[in-house]
Amino acid sequence: MSAQWSPGGWRELPIRQLPTYENEQDLAAAERTLAEAPPLVFAGEARRLKEQLGQVAEGRAFLLQGGDCAESFAEFHPNNIRDTFKVLLQMAIVLTFGAACPVVKVGRMAGQFAKPRSAPTETQDGVELPSYRGDIINAIDFEEAARVPDPGRLVRAYYQAAATLNLLRAFAQGGFANLEKVHQWNLEFAFDGAQGARYEELAGRIDECLNFMRACGLSPDKIPQLRETDFYTSHEALLLHYEEPLTRVDSLTGEWYDCSAHLLWIGDRTRQIDGAHVEFLRGVQNPIGFKCGPSLEVDDMLRLIETLNPENLPGRLTLISRMGADGVETGLPPLVRAVKREGLKVVWSCDPMHGNTIKSSTGYKTRPFDRILAEVRNFFAVHRAEGTHAGGVHIEMTGQDVTECIGGAQAIDETRLGDRYHTHCDPRLNASQALELAFLIAEQLKDERVARNGGIGRFAAAS
Ligand code: PEP
Ligand code: CO
Repeated sequence: MSAQWSPGGWRELPIRQLPTYENEQDLAAAERTLAEAPPLVFAGEARRLKEQLGQVAEGRAFLLQGGDCAESFAEFHPNNIRDTFKVLLQMAIVLTFGAACPVVKVGRMAGQFAKPRSAPTETQDGVELPSYRGDIINAIDFEEAARVPDPGRLVRAYYQAAATLNLLRAFAQGGFANLEKVHQWNLEFAFDGAQGARYEELAGRIDECLNFMRACGLSPDKIPQLRETDFYTSHEALLLHYEEPLTRVDSLTGEWYDCSAHLLWIGDRTRQIDGAHVEFLRGVQNPIGFKCGPSLEVDDMLRLIETLNPENLPGRLTLISRMGADGVETGLPPLVRAVKREGLKVVWSCDPMHGNTIKSSTGYKTRPFDRILAEVRNFFAVHRAEGTHAGGVHIEMTGQDVTECIGGAQAIDETRLGDRYHTHCDPRLNASQALELAFLIAEQLKDERVARNGGIGRFAAAS
């Protein structure tokens, strides 16, 4: 791999999961349209996120990353964006207030369209068609024409991402995220369950704190941190025909940034050291990540880290472990130890979703909620044992009242999966399950702090 880098350099290298477009001229036209369109994020924002992730890497904050497995054109609706944002805010408040730990909030939103697939084709009732690869590439309908990759979808995805991001920015900065609204973030259906009551109790305590602060002359209209929040976007940088034209030189620093999102990651299936995806992401200065599945060898991980973060900058690189609940205790420690031994600065995040996918007896792809909780618990246990910081979680969730993962306080069983199963790809946590997970993480973070500080001091004092 040469030190020279250009946004199109990946085109010379082996690449996996790339769709074959029938009409190259149409593809080139779509790429030109994107290349002329405004960037979706500003490089300065990506730098700010990198700094905040640097705090996570140093053990002083926690990364909360979540959203759809696959955004879709069909589910593009302001209420869906609002409700996912609400749940992320609720989870963040549980972690910030419950564990006194600053939380960096990143949505898998506004660009999470392209999906890697385990097989190039799918067979139903004896009919074989190309796999669905996400709405940015082809359509989910099981029809031959729908499965043909369509370059026009790149442009439609861009505009949907732009509109989604616009609303997210408005929510984050325009008053919706004001701490005085902490009760209003609760979604009706989650409020019926045990998690809703637990959340309301915590929101009541926040109200008391705000009242106290108000009495001292400190209120959200005077303090931006109480009425606004930083919210970032992320997606898997899988479809490089989308990423390359949105990659621009930052006029302030002269450096390249992929301006399709603040944070980009490489999936478990496309992290080959000599492959196109690693080549592309090594050259952009955004915070980036890669997934660490059970097949990742220590040496390969170290080479990836060296290639993607040669200057060992804290915040540049997030390692997203997705070992499966039973795989964490054996799979993760060798990786964590090697990183620690080499003095490498990374954020360790846990994706408890992708290693715990099963097929239900009723034919649905699902994830048992207790396995998801178990993976998070095991992830924290490994970090406690190694003396490292369990830095974050990466989850697939939605604010909609879906029935896609079994278990949780609503006790969704296999027979109920069909009630409201809407995902375009993998099963997501609903709001109630996401909140339950947040309470568990808050407890684990508190334990981590106690282990580090002997039970005294705030989280930040652990540094
Ligand atoms: C995903 O995050 O949706 C995904 C496909 O994950 P992984 O690359 O870990 O399989
Ligand atoms: Co997924």
